[in-house]
Amino acid sequence: MKADLNFHGTNGSYGPHAWHPFPAKFPPQLPRFLIERLSAPGDVVLDPMLGSGTTLVEAVRLGRRAIGCDIDPLARMIAGAKLTPIDPSAALEEGLTVLSAAQRDCWQDGHRLRQDFQLRFDGKTADFIDYWFLPQHQIELFSLLQRIEALPQGSIREFLNVVFSSTIIAKSGGVSLARDLAHTRPHRDMKKAPASAFVEFSKRLERIVAAIGKSMPHEIEANSSPGANGAMDLSEGHCQAEILAASAAETGLPPESIDLIITSPPYANNAIDYMRAHKFSLVWFGWKIDELSRIRAQYLGHDAMSSREYKNLPDQCQETIATLAERDARKAQTLRRYFGEMVTVIAEMKRVLKRGGAAVIVVATSNLRGIDVQTHKGLASIGESAGFDLAGIGVRRLDRDKRMMPARWGTQQSSQIEARMHDEYVIGLVKP
Ligand SMILES: C[S@@+](CC[C@H](N)C(=O)[O-])C[C@H]1O[C@@H](n2cnc3c(N)ncnc32)[C@H](O)[C@@H]1O
Repeated sequence: MKADLNFHGTNGSYGPHAWHPFPAKFPPQLPRFLIERLSAPGDVVLDPMLGSGTTLVEAVRLGRRAIGCDIDPLARMIAGAKLTPIDPSAALEEGLTVLSAAQRDCWQDGHRLRQDFQLRFDGKTADFIDYWFLPQHQIELFSLLQRIEALPQGSIREFLNVVFSSTIIAKSGGVSLARDLAHTRPHRDMKKAPASAFVEFSKRLERIVAAIGKSMPHEIEANSSPGANGAMDLSEGHCQAEILAASAAETGLPPESIDLIITSPPYANNAIDYMRAHKFSLVWFGWKIDELSRIRAQYLGHDAMSSREYKNLPDQCQETIATLAERDARKAQTLRRYFGEMVTVIAEMKRVLKRGGAAVIVVATSNLRGIDVQTHKGLASIGESAGFDLAGIGVRRLDRDKRMMPARWGTQQSSQIEARMHDEYVIGLVKP
């Protein structure tokens, strides 16, 4: 925890890591550093909030077995594709075939496409699409999707789904009318002139395929051989990790089955509203707006998270909640739920971890009504109350150009609290 965990100036876009934007994803060097030091080849590494799968990808590259959970279907889709080996030239060829067939469908068969389109979405979901996507882009996206769905199940189809999604959720704007989507704070801009979905698809396809071909940075490649017991299965089309649609609070994994946990939960103040952005992509894959709202309500730290009675929070958490309650009772209640839910999540981590195993939780602090909610201290004390030993808390300074942070952090701020928002904490827990 005392090491330099900043990894500034290093390239984090190697391998599949930059295939799709994902707010607050790890620089891959961070899980890599921890996996190398805290586990051995063949060990099982878990990320119970896997996000875009950075921990899992690095674990597999280092010859560990990897398991991840997430309640977000887009996170699972992105991570699943990244962890399934593909042949880059076949992926490019297939992607270009999909593209030209979709373009042909649009020109020659527009009427049939529109009819299929009407049948696919329920009223609320169709309204959402109408609000955020111009009619021409709706049809282009739909024709691409139909062609992707006509491919056999497998690695190339999963890969093209991710390329498709990256045309919508893109740092550069994407094909919807939303601005700031990649920062999870979408707002509609009728003056925006989104590029054609076909153009975006072909651009991203070529860029991503080129990245697959590129080798990893030298220092990383040198250490990347799978160990003797490594479960790395390089056969094409086979996902190298186990990805579960489960909550971190209830993974369903056997007790004492995990050697190392590396994870990062959402922010305590819901500063990154994953589902608000991810639904722009997920509706195209058949998810209904109502279903997605239900998933959103299960997010750790979400306002709508089901209310439970959390009586046994450590003093550190109680004090922060009490200070916040003086300014904003509702936000204090949300924070209570967040810490309360993390009590369950950390207890679950302890249950599945082997004795002597480490659980590393990476979290930034949150500013609620001007109060610096030192989330790391709260989570460390929850860890200790759960029976973990606290090995230490490391600090890393965020490289904001690399790690996508909430949009409002982009403004110039000089206060002490804002300065601390640019730090992230690495909490090291060990199960005795
Ligand atoms: C900060 S992101 C993780 C980013 C990840 N470390 C990466 O490198 O991409 C937090 C993740 O927690 C997930 N999450 C939120 N609530 C959850 C829950 N109850 N169970 C499992 N995952 C959850 C979100 O969907 C999101 O993907």
